[in-house]
Amino acid sequence: MTSVSQSEMLVNPLREGLEVVRSADPCVVVIFGASGDLTKRKLIPALFSLVEQHLIPSAFAVLGVARRPMSHEEFRATQREFIDAERLETEVWKSFESSLFYIPFDFSDASGYQKLTEELQKIDQERGTLNNRLYYLSTPPTAYSEIIKQLGAAHLVAAPGEKYWTRIIIEKPFGHDLESAHALNAGVNAVFNENQVYRIDHYLGKETVQNILVFRFANGIFEPLWNRRYVDHVQITVAETLGVEHRGSYYDGAGAARDMVQNHILQVLSLVAMEPPISLEADTIRDEKSKVLRAIRRIPPQDAFKYSVRAQYGRGFITGETAAAYREEEDVNPQSKTETYAAFKFYIDNWRWAGVPFYVRSGKRLAKRVSEVAIQFKTVPHLLFEQTAADQLEPNVLVLKIQPDEGITLRFGAKLPGQSIHIRWVNMDFRYGASFGVKTPEAYERLIHDCLIGDATLFSRRDTVEQAWNLLMPFLIAWQQSKERELPQYEAGSQGPSEAEALLSAEGRKWRRI
Ligand code: BG6
Repeated sequence: MTSVSQSEMLVNPLREGLEVVRSADPCVVVIFGASGDLTKRKLIPALFSLVEQHLIPSAFAVLGVARRPMSHEEFRATQREFIDAERLETEVWKSFESSLFYIPFDFSDASGYQKLTEELQKIDQERGTLNNRLYYLSTPPTAYSEIIKQLGAAHLVAAPGEKYWTRIIIEKPFGHDLESAHALNAGVNAVFNENQVYRIDHYLGKETVQNILVFRFANGIFEPLWNRRYVDHVQITVAETLGVEHRGSYYDGAGAARDMVQNHILQVLSLVAMEPPISLEADTIRDEKSKVLRAIRRIPPQDAFKYSVRAQYGRGFITGETAAAYREEEDVNPQSKTETYAAFKFYIDNWRWAGVPFYVRSGKRLAKRVSEVAIQFKTVPHLLFEQTAADQLEPNVLVLKIQPDEGITLRFGAKLPGQSIHIRWVNMDFRYGASFGVKTPEAYERLIHDCLIGDATLFSRRDTVEQAWNLLMPFLIAWQQSKERELPQYEAGSQGPSEAEALLSAEGRKWRRI
């Protein structure tokens, strides 16, 4: 984390407690692809909310860039859509809106970057933004390399040692496979130092994901159990009820493993499995996460089907409504072999986790929307209670609920009231909403603020992105080459494919019910 002078600190009036949150430096946020959905849905609402909380100074501006011709006024008007009507009436919005600018140009046209330079200089003079820049790549990934090259060629990137700074936020996907990720990263690092690069993974911005570290390392009672001696296995689930919505053309070229496992799930897994870091420095934490990814056993393609399951949803029912099959969705190839569900069994070959399987799964159009990490502990070594059949004895499970119903649950056996000893399984529950009574901040808000103050802790570093691809490649290759195997189907609204059950039942284990 960067050092902070007293004058740069502000108490955030909207967050309770003694928290002292640093305000961003004066700067311009340049959004490439600003005419897209992400800008009005997530980025502008997040920036506005930071302004409302005094976490962004008045010496600030947003400069939208995209090919579509639009005036500053038109751009401002389109950014109102996802802001509540009453907030649009405030003076804060009026002042924020006047800091939004837009210029159209084609990302591959060098003269556009000349225009960009001039516009930025003008904004610096008018608003005192001190030459600090945050570039936000919110374009289709095919444009990333070109934009980065052009920014370098136009001298729009601060060199190390300058008094002002340049940072870049890159949206996923970071490549389509190991080779393309490597090429993309090489292009990025040819222009930007790695410490200027912020690869965003919005799961890391979720409060409940950040809480994994607090839960593990601020409490004395769990960490001693957090290892192969007491943990039987770990399940990580990210289930969605949504289908591919209007993103068929992107999703059909990606699939569940690339869309969710390569990034979000492996990031969560590494937080759950990492060793205690020696400090909260960004790179100290990221070093520990990187060690976990390096320690996950690599599986050769010929064994991929023993360690993974992929499947695609067919027709079904979601909350009482009929749902179309994946192959019937807009912009999806009617013969598509893209998986909408992926499950893996990973082993982390180190002292802490040797022999403990980490089962992970993610799918669209499943029975419920739920993201959670379940740590299942080993059962007792000897059965003392005669009336309790061995198969009624459940394991203790600690569930970190990422969303919805954010919280933590511990499941344990309790005596059912009565003369004899019968065991009933009960939950001990912690809920964020009930305990703190505040809405958890949006992931984008947290992440953009972190980037503006130069804290890269919650962003993916180059090595972890490439390690995650390296881990998944044998599976992706085996899935693609498998001609003889039909792609398993599951009914929309169900628990997923029966093949996924077999991945665990072979070892006497069961997935948790979604
Ligand atoms: C995105 C994926 O990264 O995460 C989407 O591209 C997915 O396919 C989304 O729906 C899920 O995010 P969340 O925050 O709703 O769990």
